[in-house]
Amino acid sequence: MSQTRQTIFMKRKIALIFGGRSAEHEVSLNSAKNIFTAMDTNLFDVQLIGISKEGTWYQFANSDVFKKHKSLNDSRLTDEDMVTLISIGGNPYFYSFRTQERRQIDCAFPIIHGTMGEDGTLQGLFKVVQLPFVGCDVLASAVGMDKEFMKRLMTESGIKNSKYLILRRENMLPYNEIVKELGSPFFIKPANAGSSVGVHKIKTEDDYMNKISDSFLYDHKVLAEQFNEGAEVECSVLGLNQKPKASLPGQLKVHHEFYSYEAKYIDAKGAEIIIPAPLPENQIREIQELAVKTFKSLGCDGLARVDFFVNKNGEILVNEINTLPGFTQISMYPKMWEASGLKYSALITELIQIAFEKFSNDRKLKLDFN
Ligand SMILES: Nc1ncnc2c1ncn2[C@@H]1O[C@H](COP(=O)(O)OP(=O)(O)O)[C@@H](O)[C@H]1O
Ligand SMILES: [Mg+2]
Repeated sequence: MSQTRQTIFMKRKIALIFGGRSAEHEVSLNSAKNIFTAMDTNLFDVQLIGISKEGTWYQFANSDVFKKHKSLNDSRLTDEDMVTLISIGGNPYFYSFRTQERRQIDCAFPIIHGTMGEDGTLQGLFKVVQLPFVGCDVLASAVGMDKEFMKRLMTESGIKNSKYLILRRENMLPYNEIVKELGSPFFIKPANAGSSVGVHKIKTEDDYMNKISDSFLYDHKVLAEQFNEGAEVECSVLGLNQKPKASLPGQLKVHHEFYSYEAKYIDAKGAEIIIPAPLPENQIREIQELAVKTFKSLGCDGLARVDFFVNKNGEILVNEINTLPGFTQISMYPKMWEASGLKYSALITELIQIAFEKFSNDRKLKLDFN
């Protein structure tokens, strides 16, 4: 076989990276288990890399890790193979402390939701070791994670989102002042979190006094936000920043007061999803256009899920963008693609191809003035 043909048929080595120091650690393991099962083994060799809740990196030989562990804790992983990500001569490797061997890696597929995974920190590490990776780059990940900066950039691009105020421990606003600005009820949420942790609907001053400290557990900055009574609609976006495409949107029918952590993950009947969203054609199109506009405006690449409120008067507001959304077979992001004609396994392949394309585009840029 000629050299070029050999290159073409060489399987790409993909590091599927999961777990991490985030409130969504368990969700990540679930996403990773599903991705691992569906990855096209004709194209890819998958290496499983789990990060414990303490932040230690391990490589696992096979998917037994998902059977053995619902979450990764150092105290239960003492027999496992600790690794670190290194770069030698411009090539990224995982180095095993046990065998003292290094394994070259072609691309990372990080599927860590929330802090230290979705917020640009992990992406920064990949860039330092010159490892192509699935998903948004450092800036878009960080902006997508911080609800204040996300909203500022959206507003600047003319993308409607709900009115809000910023609260800090040293700059707290009294309940009455918030109600005067935003009306009642209103929502409070940590600026940097996810999965609805620390999110509360505030109806009374007592609610405010009782719940605000919980929001501050997750971030030093909390948003108070005007309440939207409309339907919650989501839309998946896929592609490079220059040419993203939007899926059919889906609608959530939430059976709790709002789409809380419990409704999302604990109560199996907490919410139903309807794909495509039962909305008129023109609203579907508007949502898809807005999803693409948000993706482009925030500098995203690869994937993101854009979440909306569609209010009763027909007004469409963007609630937030998620740059590493839930990725199990039954999660909204892949489900919306499936309804749009792109199957789970093919979606994974496309995401990896996009990662290589972005990496090769970025490589063409000069790093010095010579
Ligand atoms: N301004 C709001 N009006 C109505 N519901 C809201 C508002 N903000 C948040 N929610 C409810 O809380 C859920 C979680 O809030 P969200 O801002 O999406 O945070 P997270 O990043 O944790 O998902 C939303 O899906 C929605 O059900
Ligand atoms: Mg959300």
